[in-house]
Amino acid sequence: MKSSHVPLSYHPEKLKRELKPFYIGADDKDISEMLKTLGLTKLEDLYAHIDDSVKMTTVPMAKNLSYEELIAHVNEIANKNKQKISFLGDGLPQYAVTEVVGPICNIRGLTTAYTPYQPERSQGTLQTLWIYQSLIAQLTGFEAINASLYDRSTCLFEAMNCALRLVKDSTTIVVASTLYPGDIEVLDTYSKETEMKIVRAPVNAQTGKLDIEALKRILNTTPQVAAVAFPQVNNLGNIEAVDEIVDLCSTSNIKSIAVVDPMLLGLGGLKAPVKFGTRMQGCDMVVAEGQHLAIGPNFGGPGLGIFGIRYNDQDKISIRSTAGRYVGKTQDLKGRDCKALILSTREQHIRREKATSNICSNQSFVATAAGASILARGDEGFEKTLKLSRGLAEKAAEALSQFEGVELKFRGSPFFNEFTLKLPVNTREFITKASQAGLQVGVDVSTRHPEISQENLLLMSFTDIHSENDIETLVHFFGTQFAKNKTATPALKIPSVMLRTDAPEIPKLTAKDIIQYYEKLGKQNLSPDDGIYPLGSCTMKYNPYINDYAASLPGFTNVHPEAPIEDVQGSLEVLYEIQEQFKAITGLPGVVTQAVAGAQGELVGLKMFQAYHRDRGEHAQRNVVIIPRSAHGTNPATATMAGYDTKVVDGKAYGIYTVEALPNGEMNLAQIKEFLKTDGHRVAGVMVTNPNTAGIFETQFKEMSALIHAVGGLVYMDGANMNAIAGIVNLDKLGVDAVHNNLHKTWTIPHGGGGPGDAIVAVSHRLLDFMPGIQVVKKDGMFDIVKPAKSCGSFHRHFGNFAHKIRAYTYIKALGGAGVQKMSQVAVLSARYLHHNLSKSYPTLPAQAESSPRMHEFILTLSPETFKKIEAAGTPKTNTIARIGKLFLDFGFHAPTVAFPEQYGLMFEPTETYTKKELDQFVGVVETILKLVNEHPEVLKTVPHFTPIDRVDEVGANKNPMFCEKITSHLPDIIADRVDSEKLRNSTPGDLCDHILKTHQITVAG
Ligand SMILES: Cc1ncc(COP(=O)(O)O)c(C=O)c1O
Repeated sequence: MKSSHVPLSYHPEKLKRELKPFYIGADDKDISEMLKTLGLTKLEDLYAHIDDSVKMTTVPMAKNLSYEELIAHVNEIANKNKQKISFLGDGLPQYAVTEVVGPICNIRGLTTAYTPYQPERSQGTLQTLWIYQSLIAQLTGFEAINASLYDRSTCLFEAMNCALRLVKDSTTIVVASTLYPGDIEVLDTYSKETEMKIVRAPVNAQTGKLDIEALKRILNTTPQVAAVAFPQVNNLGNIEAVDEIVDLCSTSNIKSIAVVDPMLLGLGGLKAPVKFGTRMQGCDMVVAEGQHLAIGPNFGGPGLGIFGIRYNDQDKISIRSTAGRYVGKTQDLKGRDCKALILSTREQHIRREKATSNICSNQSFVATAAGASILARGDEGFEKTLKLSRGLAEKAAEALSQFEGVELKFRGSPFFNEFTLKLPVNTREFITKASQAGLQVGVDVSTRHPEISQENLLLMSFTDIHSENDIETLVHFFGTQFAKNKTATPALKIPSVMLRTDAPEIPKLTAKDIIQYYEKLGKQNLSPDDGIYPLGSCTMKYNPYINDYAASLPGFTNVHPEAPIEDVQGSLEVLYEIQEQFKAITGLPGVVTQAVAGAQGELVGLKMFQAYHRDRGEHAQRNVVIIPRSAHGTNPATATMAGYDTKVVDGKAYGIYTVEALPNGEMNLAQIKEFLKTDGHRVAGVMVTNPNTAGIFETQFKEMSALIHAVGGLVYMDGANMNAIAGIVNLDKLGVDAVHNNLHKTWTIPHGGGGPGDAIVAVSHRLLDFMPGIQVVKKDGMFDIVKPAKSCGSFHRHFGNFAHKIRAYTYIKALGGAGVQKMSQVAVLSARYLHHNLSKSYPTLPAQAESSPRMHEFILTLSPETFKKIEAAGTPKTNTIARIGKLFLDFGFHAPTVAFPEQYGLMFEPTETYTKKELDQFVGVVETILKLVNEHPEVLKTVPHFTPIDRVDEVGANKNPMFCEKITSHLPDIIADRVDSEKLRNSTPGDLCDHILKTHQITVAG
């Protein structure tokens, strides 16, 4: 390794899976034996049932890089970014990253685990989220904090939608134009074509704050208003009159949604939103960006959408209208305190068109890191940070106001640690000069508000990353540009009514204690490192360490998305290259990198469809989206969110049109044809998962696409299952117009205990002009950004979850075209091999699809006799599948996906990560489970037996939810495993059966 390369913090040669070619478990011998078992001769035979006309022969991509080459390559790109003294902020302030974050990012049990669906085996993630929720509750004063949403802008949209549901007959949200413009653009994009109307409340040009008189006029004259969304610190750095705004909302009987900065709510900071209003009645909902609580700017993401709502004796109902999921305190069957996911409006739980939000993956891991960082700061840390930030801002404001023509623009408005300067020269040119002098001096806000035009304005941010020296450097630079000939204007004192008066009482723990505690929590989860993690549809494969290494390079993590373009060439190169990689992988000509999760990718797709139809004057008529019944819950939820309202009027169906499956597990194309005959002109598009959620390739996809195109509709492919066909099937030839790739599935970014996910959306030539966000282009060896001609808007305030793009990019570089193909082939081979072995003892679903070749996953069920035996032993049929899932925990494995997409199904997806030996051992476990429940069906009443806690009462947890507790220096207790998972996996299945039986008998005996 060159000395300019950041050293690795791990030893790849000591890791079981890190140096395997393409991270594939099976070697050549394994592959040929598995093929032989299946009666095949080569990997290509696995795809014999797919028409050659839709296949790609090679993936047009450079050869893969070796491990050493990869290390050099990512360092080289990171070093192309220029790190300078930065006063950028603008809604993404940069604070010092606490020392606990690095070590916590290395706890694989926390980073690589899936969403905690099985609470008995995921207390680790559940506890970290509980701590996060509780600490944010302490900072904001709100009782119920969501377990995280994507980021501030989409979180705000969810809050606004929630307000529409809570205020009867409402349609309109008043949005302060003093919110960040990147957020407002997302709100506009999301709300277009939906029932939500947005009215902007203007800024007052003199105060640089929301114009309260104008707001009053809007509220007096606008019908059906549900809420006002407003910031505490606005997009010019000024502190808004939050009390007046909340009072106005209270008297108008509408909801107040405050957008705050959680960092500024610490001891010594600003007033908590629970106390906004002259009667300290508090606002109704709170929204915030929390990225900077945990990590550096990372070119804009992953973010952390913080959402809170009141939950107290006066209001226990509103929370039921909110999006996403919460972690709640509950008890297991033995009465032990534990945590579980509650109030989930997501995934399998989403009731198709009844869903109110499509959010599925959230930002769990950023929330985890934020919680740990809050503990590392404690009240005293916050106070120190805020004192320093405020002090440096005051000092800079005073010093800079001495230069000729330089003024604090809003002298009468208090600010905390960000302010707007008026300059005597063009701001853009000034920023360029500063950059040449080694300073990212601030953000040009000259055109931010039409009410304050014709002035050269610069927004600057001061935090604990700055020192006195940095301020001196800044002042010195101003001195090189302007004469120092005025007396200093002191910064306005912040009125006490705007400040926090009480302590949030955040305990301060040592880094050592925090890390040890989180390491223990990591051990309560499972990781794909440990062994097969068979969750179907989730693609729980190995997440290479080198991806995290690349993403953690300071050249990437410290870069702000609003830095001058010359300073961020490395980050733009990653985005440009990943666009090219996904063009090669999908065969499609356009790529959007902005979506932060699969579900958001779906929304990107539908919004592009709408823009396309609007452009052709057909949007109003195209009011139907065709979706198969087996689709993941996010597909119909996305269609609903995009404004496709499912209803029947005069016998005509609008919104989602559901397609049933054929007995062979594929979609019923004849049903689609029938519908198109009469209603083709009304079809906006289809959303089809391929391979579908039964693990079966839709062999009629190409024909379906042609039919949809013939009636003027568009084709969305849910690409969550790309791990089966990446590099094998050309999606352009398949007729796909838009497809999302979940980077946290096929492309190896860690699941983070539920997120952040990430997505790449590839598009056909039809949609190139309508792509959202930015495109990175290469001109004369430099990377630049452009917006497509008829862009459908924006889905992220910046460039999406950028740090995850680096991970996926690094992975694909390690694979090259041949590796991508082999990855898919071995994933399919492993699944088909497991299916072949297990279908000898288990019936499979769909019931008549025995002859349909399975791709990356498959569904097993139980025979009617086994169901009967189990029912006779006391477990109702409706609970049986979930209980079988829990039995996997007793064998040291994660459960397969239970009861989705088939109510009585267990869905398995092994991925390409594991060796034949591991697959064979797993077959042994799954067969033993069947034998056990046939011989001793009673054990299902007490499963699981060896996890730290017994089965959790999830129904009870939802009835009387508890969302937080006061976190003290004695962190919530961790209950130890009864038997360690590794020990369970290393036991023989027969011994485990005896152990399970004995434990069951002891449990029953009480
Ligand atoms: C088939 C399918 N579609 C969509 C999604 C949603 O993706 P995300 O969780 O990234 O929003 C998933 C996630 O599990 C999925 O399996």
